[in-house]
Amino acid sequence: MGLQGKRVLVGISGGIAAYKTLFLIRLLKKEGAEVRCVCTPSALQFVTPLSLSTLSGNAVYSDMFSPVNQTATAHISYADWGDILVVAPATANTLGKFALGIADNALTTLYTAFTKPVLVAPAMNTNMYRNPAVEANMESLRKRGVRFVEAEIGPLACGCAGQGRMAEPETILAETAALFDNTSASAFWREKKVLLTAGPTQEAIDPVRYISNHSTGLMGASLSDVLTERGAQVYLVCGPMKNQPAREPYRRISVTSAAEMYRESLALWSGMDMGILSAAVADYRPKTACGQKIKKHEAETMLELVKTDDILASLGRSKKPHQFLAGFALETENETANAAEKLHRKNADLIVLNSMRDAGAGFGTATNKVSFLDKTGQIVTGECKGKGAVAADILDYIENLICVQSLTHPA
Ligand SMILES: Cc1cc2nc3c(=O)[nH]c(=O)nc-3n(C[C@H](O)[C@H](O)[C@H](O)COP(=O)(O)O)c2cc1C
Repeated sequence: MGLQGKRVLVGISGGIAAYKTLFLIRLLKKEGAEVRCVCTPSALQFVTPLSLSTLSGNAVYSDMFSPVNQTATAHISYADWGDILVVAPATANTLGKFALGIADNALTTLYTAFTKPVLVAPAMNTNMYRNPAVEANMESLRKRGVRFVEAEIGPLACGCAGQGRMAEPETILAETAALFDNTSASAFWREKKVLLTAGPTQEAIDPVRYISNHSTGLMGASLSDVLTERGAQVYLVCGPMKNQPAREPYRRISVTSAAEMYRESLALWSGMDMGILSAAVADYRPKTACGQKIKKHEAETMLELVKTDDILASLGRSKKPHQFLAGFALETENETANAAEKLHRKNADLIVLNSMRDAGAGFGTATNKVSFLDKTGQIVTGECKGKGAVAADILDYIENLICVQSLTHPA
């Protein structure tokens, strides 16, 4: 199952389902994982430190102000130690604290210091589960990359029935292993910080009109999904996309205009390992956006346009040796020459070229056909495929290119 030697932090909060967590610990140990338990004070009303430490083989961390394993800052040393944090059961209260960044006990403090994958298994009364505040907290955690093992429908400890039962230990075990499978599936992409821009931008003419293009964001959404599946931390800066990623990226910043996309991308860039700029950013914007709707007076009117800031060129200018930068180009003529010129002028490492001449390629289609142009000058043209498969090809090409570069120019 792939859990051999993995370090699993099991977080337990104060719900009746905590008794099932004892089984989960046994199953994790049986699969070869190392387990340490971290409890909220309420959790200890439901399970005892003796049971948890006996089953896990390790001291239980529950009191922040009592040293555990001879260390006073166990919330940090435990966070460093664990490969994953599995919180089961996750109460409404603890989920709320996670969502708001409240760190007032051993588990919530450890969570705020934890930077690796987090899996939560909520368990609560069905009305609590449906409570709008609880739902909003869960949604905001999902958006930040926390994975959920959804609560099951069935009879609940309170005597009623509905959704709220904690998933069975076997299910939580399988989801834990799946997270490792996903992230270990690609050692290359795991925890790589990738800035991904996607979708169109909209440039306001007045409060009701804008200039934009036909991009639906499908290619960017597919790239986001495949990157997330491979374990990358995706920072998705996206314009108003019609197509959304199926999996929530690590972080998502929604923007409208080219100026906003430029600002957000530049702010992130220095902390990234890679930039993949798939957005269809407007090259021009109206010089001024009118505050009021422009009235229809004349038969003809003029719209003065000014250039927007070039995101690819700006990132290329400040690119550090360890950073990789890929841009997209959509051309209608002289495709290869234009893409080669763009690659050099903007200091990119790769241009992914779409040609409007290819059937099944470009905006609004479920398929795409791309060519790759890198600094070696070679051009490689792929098949026409679904955008998910093209996204996988793009990432394979990048991985291959970086691996070849590091072999030919070792650091
Ligand atoms: C018998 C009993 C069972 C409870 N079960 C749950 C539960 O399943 N889910 C939940 O969110 N809260 C449950 N609660 C309420 C929590 O224990 C309470 O909100 C507490 O503050 C949670 O603290 P913690 O999140 O720090 O562990 C239960 C309370 C009692 C008395």
